[in-house]
This record gives sequence, structure tokens and C-alpha cells, in this order.
Amino acid sequence: MTSSNTFDMVIFGGAGDLATRKLLPALYHLNKDGHLPGGSRIIGAGRSAMSQAEFTEHVAKACHDYVPEADMDDHALEAFCKRIDYVTVDSGDPKQFDDLAATLGKAGDERTRIYFLATKPALFSQICENLAAAKLNTPNARVVLEKPLGKDLASAQEINTRVAQVFAENQIFRIDHYLGKETVQNLMALRFANTLFEPLWRNTHIRDVQITLAESVGVGGRAGYYDGNGALRDMVQNHLLQLLCITAMEPPINDHADAVRDEKLKVLRALRPLQGQSALRNTVRGQYKAGAILGEPVTGYLDEAGMPADSRTESFVVLKTRINNWRWSGVPFFLRTGKRLAERRAEIVVNFKRVPHNIFGSDSRDLSPNRLVIRLQPDEGVRMSVLAKQPGNTMRLRPVNLNLDFAQTFKVRALDAYERLFMEIIRGNLTLFMRNDELEAAWRWIDPIVAAWDAEGDRPKPYNAGSWGPSSAISLLAKDGYAWNEEVDESF
Ligand code: BG6
Repeated sequence: MTSSNTFDMVIFGGAGDLATRKLLPALYHLNKDGHLPGGSRIIGAGRSAMSQAEFTEHVAKACHDYVPEADMDDHALEAFCKRIDYVTVDSGDPKQFDDLAATLGKAGDERTRIYFLATKPALFSQICENLAAAKLNTPNARVVLEKPLGKDLASAQEINTRVAQVFAENQIFRIDHYLGKETVQNLMALRFANTLFEPLWRNTHIRDVQITLAESVGVGGRAGYYDGNGALRDMVQNHLLQLLCITAMEPPINDHADAVRDEKLKVLRALRPLQGQSALRNTVRGQYKAGAILGEPVTGYLDEAGMPADSRTESFVVLKTRINNWRWSGVPFFLRTGKRLAERRAEIVVNFKRVPHNIFGSDSRDLSPNRLVIRLQPDEGVRMSVLAKQPGNTMRLRPVNLNLDFAQTFKVRALDAYERLFMEIIRGNLTLFMRNDELEAAWRWIDPIVAAWDAEGDRPKPYNAGSWGPSSAISLLAKDGYAWNEEVDESF
């Protein structure tokens, strides 16, 4: 990387939870691997009055706590800490933005400025307006917005409009960290760098698609944020819909930001709306009760610290949708996410249709259909199940897996999503970030589902922590003859 990429990155919420757990460790890794241009600085900004030395100490502790032991290196940490500075900035106090301007000004105006807003979204607009008042919205500036971007269409539009008064769309990096995950980009490679899948990637050959983002963790100490938002807003509106878009979109003409984002937007616009009774019929909400995860007892949602005893927020959601276009007409897409589920697993499962006729027996239902599993976590890889003849003197068929295990195949350290996203921000490449119209299209589709639940006074169904959610999540598929992947096959 050339020194023209030299940047000053200001992290608002620099000592907050996201910065501590994810952002600072990712930047440490990038610096250790030689990816941060010489002279670049990382400046924490926050309400707490802290000296540079105190914040540097915080950064060192964050690295010790969240970087895997094997990657910790005293020299690398020392070199990283030399880049760290801190400015006390209350987002509502314009005078303190002048202090920030003075700190940035010391290094000159030509370097790229990156403002990473790792704060509550309620502060985004105010921070941008105060950056503008301090003349910090220069053409070489980029602003990075962390989710959640709004709570519904109206609040997302308000953020978009106010931020747009300060920064041009091509200066705004809206994060969905799932887009930084290795396997998500591999899905693009699989689909658009091979001829094998494209002819089959449509309703003539695909029976259904399932996307699961299952977590074994609970809401932990995040009751304040999570309650009242719930799984639909926290995971479906962004991560699940983005995965759906990349799975279902038409081939873009190249991998440039707008080419890819145009195609994703078309998918969002083609989603069959779920509203009123159809939203209630095609969704299942759940809330975890006490249970056990890996043999350890865990508390229920309502007993989590800071949780209102009568909360109706869902910690689990399943929904069935369709994409109204030629390619996907008739193919159900099942989306599922939840906390305190049986295991941490994120995967996209593409179930192909059965063979039209079984030459080996009387019934084609005896032949298991092909299935493609794209696994994002915990172990990244792609598995294709095909039927093969079992060795022996009879024609016995059995599903076997063609396996691509990324860790085994490439034998390099898997980058954290934030490391990749930081590199793209530094390069100024917007492909892995959401555009304003995409964000709004996603909310436009989500809002009627929330409205339908609210209108019915719909309560989430209880499920045991450590299970796969309420039983109606299984029957939603079973009533039409579909089944979740783990019910068909436990082995990856
Ligand atoms: C975040 C959600 O966006 O994604 C969290 O707010 C969730 O609730 C997290 O736990 C999951 O991310 P990952 O990368 O751990 O799967």
C-alpha cells in the first residue's frame, strides 16, 4: 500500500464494547501483518475524559483480551500502540469537535480521514452535523456507520437524510459485518467464477433454500439494546437479507460497488411482501426459556439482567418468503435466526430437486436429492452431497460429500470480517457496504411484519435454550413437505 493511503481514523465510541472486542483487535492484526500505511493514526473519541496514555492502556488490554494468544506479540503491540491517540469528544458539544479538528490538523489535511461511528445510532446524525460544523467533512473524508441503522423505515430514512447533508453517498460506508466474512465472498466466487452452478441456480433445479444464523449465546449484557428490537431487526433486516441477496441475485456486470448493489437491490424489491395474515402464517417468533447449552445450565430470556419481566421481544425468528422473478418463482426461501440455540452455526443450504425418474428402483423418493451447504461458521467451507454407489455387489446408493474445507485447503489464518472491512474502507471500495436504497428497501420489507405482529398482540413462543427453537419452526416447513437441514443430516 502506498503512503497516499495514509489515514487518520477517528473511532467514536473508541472505548465502547464494539471497539474493544472487535475494532481494536482487528486493527492490531492489520498493523502486525503490515497492512496499515506508515504514519497512519487511530484516534479514540468519546465522552469520557481520558489521556492518550490511559486510552493506549485500554487498547493494549483490549488486544490482550480479544486477540488469540498465538497472534499476540509484544513488539507488534508496542508498534500498534504508537499509532494511538485520544480526544475527548461529547457528540453534542460542537466545541469539542474543534479539539478534534486541531488534533487532525496537526498531521496535515491531505491524509484520508475516516470517522468510524461505533456509537448508538441515535448519535449518528448529530456527530455528522458537528463534524461539518468543525469543517471536518472534507472531500477526503469517509464516514463508517455501524448497525443498527434505524429501527424502521422512517428512522433509517431520517439517518440517511441527515448524514447525506454532510457526506456524499460515496463517502458513506454502512457496515454489515457479514459481508466481510470470507465465505460470503466465496459464495460470489462459487457462483460467478465457475460455470458449474449457474445453469442449475434457478427454480427448474432448486427446490428450496434455507439460511440459518444460529447462535448459542444469549443476549448477555445487551438487554438495553436488544429488548424492543429483537431477532427480526437485529439479524434478519441486515445479515440474513444480505445473505439472501448474494445467494439470489443475478450476475452483476463486474464486482464494482454499484454493479453488485444494483443486483442486491433488485432482489430486495422482488421479495414477496409479508403483511397481515400472510405475515402471521409465514413467520414464527420465539423467546428462549432456561435450558442447557453444552451441558451447562443457562437462564431464560426474561431472567437476563435488565430485562423487563413482561418482554414480548423475540430472540428467535423463522420466516418463509419467495422472490417474485423468473429465476426464483416457486422456490421457498426459509430464513432462521435465534439466540441460545443448540449450536453456533451459520450456513446457506441449497436443496436441489429430486431426479425425475429412478432407474434403480420404483420410487424416485428413494434417491436423496443433491444438497449444497455453504458454511460460514464455525468451520468455513462448502459441501456438496451427491449420491454414489456403495462398494459391493449390489446397487446400493448412499449420499457422500464433496468437501471444500477452507482451513485445510488454504492453510492461512482466517481474517476476521472487520479486518477485511477496514481494508476496504482504507482503499475506498464500497462493494461490501450497503447503499442507502438497499437499507431502505430492507426496512420497507421488514416493517409490515412487525406491524402484523403488533396488530395481533402476537407473543413469541417459548423454546428451551439449547434446542432449535419452538416446534412450530419445524412445522412451518413440514406442512409443505420441507425439513431443516439438521433434521435430514447431522454430518457436515
Ligand atoms: C450482530 C448482532 O450484528 O451480529 C448480534 O447485533 C449477533 O446480536 C452478532 O450476536 C453475530 O455476529 P457473528 O459474527 O458472531 O455471527
